[in-house]
Amino acid sequence: MGIISLSCRECGTDYDLGAHYVCTRCFGPLEARYDHDHLRGDIAELRRRIQAGPQNIWRYADFLPLAGGQPGPSARASSRAGLPAGCTPLIRADRLAERLGLGEVWVKNDAANPTHSFKDRVVSVAAARARELGFEVLACASTGNLANSVAAHAAALGMESYVFIPADLEEQKILATGVYGTNLVKVRGTYDDVNRLCTELSGERDWAFVNVNLRPYYAEGSKTIAYEVAEQLGWRTPDRVVAPVASGSLYTKLEKGFKEWLALGLIDGDVPVMHGAQAAGCSPVAQAFAAGHDVCRPVRPDTIAKSLAIGNPADGPYAVELARRTGGSVEAVSDDEVRDGIRLLAETTGVFTETAAARTSASCS
Ligand SMILES: Cc1ncc(COP(=O)(O)O)c(C=O)c1O
Ligand SMILES: [Zn+2]
Repeated sequence: MGIISLSCRECGTDYDLGAHYVCTRCFGPLEARYDHDHLRGDIAELRRRIQAGPQNIWRYADFLPLAGGQPGPSARASSRAGLPAGCTPLIRADRLAERLGLGEVWVKNDAANPTHSFKDRVVSVAAARARELGFEVLACASTGNLANSVAAHAAALGMESYVFIPADLEEQKILATGVYGTNLVKVRGTYDDVNRLCTELSGERDWAFVNVNLRPYYAEGSKTIAYEVAEQLGWRTPDRVVAPVASGSLYTKLEKGFKEWLALGLIDGDVPVMHGAQAAGCSPVAQAFAAGHDVCRPVRPDTIAKSLAIGNPADGPYAVELARRTGGSVEAVSDDEVRDGIRLLAETTGVFTETAAARTSASCS
């Protein structure tokens, strides 16, 4: 089996596996639903199968939303071709742990992906599903990293691409996106304006907007970080996770990944305590968490951490709920703390990251 439907997170209505993302009954977001019964039973065999899989996210194909179902040579050769993502290093960071006064800290270095962020995971999944659904054009609304990834994946697959970004993004990011030969559209406005424009365009054009009409498939790619971390830790969950939060998709899907594997008995442990990190200059989720609300009031971003500058986060309420349910938190850190976080991580681990990742080390200190 594998994926069986797209299901509304609010009212549970099921939809077919097309390019839908919103429930027509209640406007709730749609999420991939699976049947994993065929994977129950011989856990040692399932672990062996995963370990014998490719050195990229497709080793977790049983848990990803492609209609191909079981990974077979032909399915892999067609839909799953393109730019491989995942299988990035999990680094034991003892010097960072010491500086933070913590017992054991590991850093998942997703800058080792082809375009240097975890977005290659979500785009790999969305692009593969876009091809299965017959789309010829890949598109996205981006705060920077997604634009790079969509442009690169489209190039690798020989697809046309359109990426929409706020006009004030960092020059280096814009340059990096342009090199892949995409159609780069700068929009005068915030990411939330860009996202609104793309939502309208997705109704008019026959394009696969990875984070709009293909969002339920795209979001599933983030689960592969949870699978990898668990596999790299020796088939167990970490006690705590600290992750950056923009739309809240990565943060919430990490938990989904751990839960799926715990339910199958594939890993030992419990759902980790989940901590999220935002920049004070754009922290609607942290503000809602601190104030005890469920609703994230939209904000206008003002921060150097442009890749996380989403003022109206699609998965914000689910992120707040997750932090509370697991006894975690969503914290906001200042731009100075983000700069210090970049330095701290680099000095103690040798990993030089951009602002989004530095947020997580800043929020630990
Ligand atoms: C490097 C990096 N990490 C994390 C995120 C958070 O993504 P999400 O929208 O899934 O919360 C982003 C978003 O752009 C990002 O660029
Ligand atoms: Zn609904």
